[in-house]
Amino acid sequence: MHIRDFTPDDYPAITNIHNALCPARSRTPQGWAKADEHRHPKCKFRRWVAVADGAAVGTGAYDQDIGDYAPHRFYADFKVAPEHQRRGIGAALYEHVMTELQPFEPQVLRANAFADRPQGFEFMQRRGFFEAWRETPVRLDLAAVDLAPYVGLEERLGRGGIRILTLANLAGDPMRDRKLYDLYMEIDRTLPREEASEVQPMDFDTWSHTALNDEISLDGYFVAVLGDAYIGLKELGVDRSTNMLWAGLMGVLPEYRRRGIGMAMQARAIAYARAQGFSTLSSSTGAVNQAMQHIFTRLGYLRLPVWHQLQKDLQENI
Ligand SMILES: CC(C)(COP(=O)(O)OP(=O)(O)OC[C@H]1O[C@@H](n2cnc3c(N)ncnc32)[C@H](O)[C@@H]1OP(=O)(O)O)[C@@H](O)C(=O)NCCC(=O)NCCS
Repeated sequence: MHIRDFTPDDYPAITNIHNALCPARSRTPQGWAKADEHRHPKCKFRRWVAVADGAAVGTGAYDQDIGDYAPHRFYADFKVAPEHQRRGIGAALYEHVMTELQPFEPQVLRANAFADRPQGFEFMQRRGFFEAWRETPVRLDLAAVDLAPYVGLEERLGRGGIRILTLANLAGDPMRDRKLYDLYMEIDRTLPREEASEVQPMDFDTWSHTALNDEISLDGYFVAVLGDAYIGLKELGVDRSTNMLWAGLMGVLPEYRRRGIGMAMQARAIAYARAQGFSTLSSSTGAVNQAMQHIFTRLGYLRLPVWHQLQKDLQENI
């Protein structure tokens, strides 16, 4: 076994490995390549493959996420094909990635693990990672969901002056993106979340590049409006690496919560997704997010294996 740099020719092999390990989150080589191309230029990234008998049998990478970017915060990812596990390949990839990361002086290392692959969690725990945050991924069967209880909800909100519009409807507002950014950031500040003092909020340009990209459709991104003010939003897009419809942030300004705006935006998103021919809608929220957990339960979202967001704090270099 040896470790070498990843090349674009390795996409099919690493996709096979990923899909064997995570069938519920399957990817395509093209989708994965596209997602890599769209990484924000600020984010450092490198990937390697472990080769045995001429075939790629594992992969390891470091990466940064623009959504929680900090110069010394990195994500690490390791995957070994099921039939090649328990031979030290994952451990070798881990050592390799950690050594390569050292010049960047990492202070916070992050990794993802899922409850349906407990060996991944154990592997990282043995290396000093702990669970920093717990997410509950969910999936909605769009054919099964009953929207009947929400018929008339938008009309009721409308009587109070609240309308649910799309980005396309708001194209005539010259301040649209700036107002959306301000709303997003205000909601973001109220999200139940873990403490991560090293992560700074995104500036407008970074946010526009990340949140208003070609994954979203102007007709599938919903904004709750009262007069000229934007008071709620719901992101919806097609994930490049999985081709699945995902729901990003949904939020309502605190003073307008518990009036049905969240549910009205959910109903609009579900109707839009059905009209586009999708059969499922994926989403996720923090295990502690009571409001969102309630909405998921109410609408009959299926709960998928828990997503453990792991962390290792480094005092000095590794
Ligand atoms: C989640 C959020 C968008 C809900 O918006 P909202 O406009 O208040 O939601 P609604 O008024 O439509 O309420 C929908 C349902 O959730 C329930 N609900 C709302 N807030 C709740 C809370 N804090 N705890 C428990 N249930 C809650 C409502 O009672 C209602 O239930 P029902 O249909 O059984 O009557 C809002 O709480 C929010 O902006 N939170 C911060 C952002 C966030 O956490 N987003 C999710 C991140 S993934």
